[in-house]
Amino acid sequence: MTHFTEKTIQNYPGWDEFYAGEVDEKIDFFTKGHRLFDVIYSQQFDRRFLDYICRLSNAIRLLAKTKAGSRKLRRLLAHKRAMLYFVQPSTRTFLSFLNACHILGMKVSDIRDTSTSSEIKGESQEDSIRTFASYVDLIVIRHPEAGFSEKTAWVLNQSERPVPVINGGSGPDQHPTQALLDIYTLERSFEHIGRLDGKKIAMVGDLKRGRTVRSLSYLMKNYEDITLYFVSPKVFKMKEDIKSFLEKHKIQFYETDDFQSVMPLVDAVYMTRIQKEYADDAVEEADDYPDFFFKEAYLSIIQPHCVIMHPLPRRYEIEVAVDKDPRAVYWRQERNGMWMRAALIAYIFRVEKEILKELTAQ
Ligand code: CP
Repeated sequence: MTHFTEKTIQNYPGWDEFYAGEVDEKIDFFTKGHRLFDVIYSQQFDRRFLDYICRLSNAIRLLAKTKAGSRKLRRLLAHKRAMLYFVQPSTRTFLSFLNACHILGMKVSDIRDTSTSSEIKGESQEDSIRTFASYVDLIVIRHPEAGFSEKTAWVLNQSERPVPVINGGSGPDQHPTQALLDIYTLERSFEHIGRLDGKKIAMVGDLKRGRTVRSLSYLMKNYEDITLYFVSPKVFKMKEDIKSFLEKHKIQFYETDDFQSVMPLVDAVYMTRIQKEYADDAVEEADDYPDFFFKEAYLSIIQPHCVIMHPLPRRYEIEVAVDKDPRAVYWRQERNGMWMRAALIAYIFRVEKEILKELTAQ
């Protein structure tokens, strides 16, 4: 078979109205027994949850260091199965979820290309997802369309077999678990200087289409006295929906295209890649914006405690020579994703108390 049969488009009455609704009013639909069931948007997380998930990530990280601790973690969810449906390319989100599942003993199946599933025969995406739910206890989705994870959770929650859905990146819209691991990285980095409250963060690059900076911005409402600096070329400015959200929650933010003037002011620099995959014409769009690159020379401009982050993958935004500086935390940041995603899965399946108890007992 060399080409796809045309996709079957199914009508789900009520979906368009639901999707158009305000996120705050939809959150209850993805909650069960006052706990997160599906993880779709960053706006689902409050401070209590964020502190708890960071504590739990720490506990898993520490337990996994020993053979006895790893063995105990692996027994927790050995009876559960997960599906990773990653039909938009991914390296770290896919691998960190896969390894998070392994840490907790879960069995994992995956589809990474619709040409290897019955979607090539025209099966709708919604029917494919319902099929996964017949076999597994958790579905993690990376998809090029905004709203696809949300629709999946919405469809499954009305079915006879609702299983939790985690959004592993939905088009240029949201990447809530990346925001969680970013918070965990910031909290770990600022452990000895009053944690994240009161800090100044520069977000740099393609803020218009970078879902990681969008999801992280939403989380700032949970912290005291945060200041954001949005540093971007004029064509990639942060969108109005995020700016309105920040204004509504009285979070201070500034916009500029002068990266160097912001560098000495901030406690964290969060670099991002130009997201050419969402360009109307990827050939026409410029490849790089050197004024928004972090160069080795800038290490002497930033504060001694300022951390340099990047969700990765990178292209030219951070010079390789920067990697050796202890303030460059992006490799730790991607590893943090594995601990935090294991913590999230443990929370969803309600085994987190056993983990915290185990750590205390050691
Ligand atoms: N940060 C991130 O989402 O990376 P991948 O696209 O490699 O998963």
